[in-house]
Amino acid sequence: MKTQLIVACDVDTLKEARKAIDRLAPRVKIFKIGSQLFTACGPEVVRYVQRRGARVFLDLKFHDIPNTVAKAAAAATRLGVFMMTLHAGGGPEMLRAAREAAGEAAKANKIKRPLLVAVTVLTSQTCPDVQARVLALARSASGSGVDGVVASVEECALIKQSLGPEFLVVTPGIRPAGASVDDQKRIATPAQARQAGSDFIVVGRPIIAAPDPAAAARAVLKEIKA
Ligand code: C5P
Repeated sequence: MKTQLIVACDVDTLKEARKAIDRLAPRVKIFKIGSQLFTACGPEVVRYVQRRGARVFLDLKFHDIPNTVAKAAAAATRLGVFMMTLHAGGGPEMLRAAREAAGEAAKANKIKRPLLVAVTVLTSQTCPDVQARVLALARSASGSGVDGVVASVEECALIKQSLGPEFLVVTPGIRPAGASVDDQKRIATPAQARQAGSDFIVVGRPIIAAPDPAAAARAVLKEIKA
């Protein structure tokens, strides 16, 4: 099983994003664009990543009434993103509506449907019954036709065991040994994520804020391929 690296391009401006993307592509093949960067510069940064030959993980964590989320998922699909997030807590009706709308938009535009992954419990949060909560949300998401979930490495093996190897698990909260923990709580190293069966690891600050982002990315890639 292969674990792929997604770099979270959490910067404030298009200029900074371009600099980071230019340094990291083509070695890094998937960039995550989240609310910080997308709010600042919108679809332009999505197109920039695509022009550099990389794929976009649009992480806007949609959570609203089913109709609104469905329209947002269709709009994200038309941008040609590779993967997008929505909140599992939005419920099965919301998840199903998004999946359907993304499918229809992809068909109408003759493009591939993006992968839809549902956020379970944020890796910056913790609670006593976190594993049970993550698993319940993952079950509901899987039953609603989405492609996978975002969860911490701690729940990854359990999700794979319960929902099967095809159900994708995207794991943020990744910290190479010795890196700063920042606001993350449920963290793991890239190698631990690979061992747990994570399909995609999301790494932000340990690469983006490193003195040499390209070297930091190389080290993480080496760890998930070893
Ligand atoms: O800098 P760091 O590696 O902590 O960045 C993690 C990225 O993953 C951030 O962009 C954050 O929004 C995102 N994320 C997360 N936990 C989730 C879902 C997404 O940390 N459950």
